[in-house]
Amino acid sequence: MLSLQITGLSGAGKTTLAQWVSCQLIKLDYPCIVIDGDSYRQTLCSDLGFSHADRMENIRRLGKLANDYAQQGTIAIVAAINPFETVRRELNSLYNTKTVWVDCPMDTLVARDIKGLYRKALLPDGHPDKILNLTGVNDVYEKPLQADLRLDTDLLTLDAAGRLLLNFILAQVAPA
Ligand code: ADX
Repeated sequence: MLSLQITGLSGAGKTTLAQWVSCQLIKLDYPCIVIDGDSYRQTLCSDLGFSHADRMENIRRLGKLANDYAQQGTIAIVAAINPFETVRRELNSLYNTKTVWVDCPMDTLVARDIKGLYRKALLPDGHPDKILNLTGVNDVYEKPLQADLRLDTDLLTLDAAGRLLLNFILAQVAPA
């Protein structure tokens, strides 16, 4: 069917959007699965950390899983930070995975900070609780150069962003 990678910084709305659109797709009788980075880091990817190599491996595993679902007729949505352009392109060339960039400015993410990660990453150097490799603060996020869809979640309501995403997916899967 279709595999999709929703990429963006922590707290930008990847999981929320993926779940919103998944509910709508299921109501429309499209089988759909959300493959969420946070969740798979507890299971399939529990051996991985946040180094460059581990993040690449994380996305390769999730991308392969998504493609396996897609091959069996399910719309598979990977919701993970997925910070590197090379591996996003790799999934696109291997599996035709589409890229949705959930963009949100850093000041909004820091203000929301639902998980408290930004506060910890912004602590002074040497502080025992400081996070040293939080994507977007002190670790790299490569902006997608070829996103198939970009959603600015600071400007759009969840319903508005969700509808844009739903329409994008339906345009990919609907018979011509
Ligand atoms: S990815 O970079 O490999 O795609 P993934 O989406 O699976 O990351 O996991 C990101 C989640 O792990 C974040 O939502 C956050 O809850 C948690 N996390 C913990 N430490 C970090 C960190 N240093 N950088 C990014 N996310 C982190």
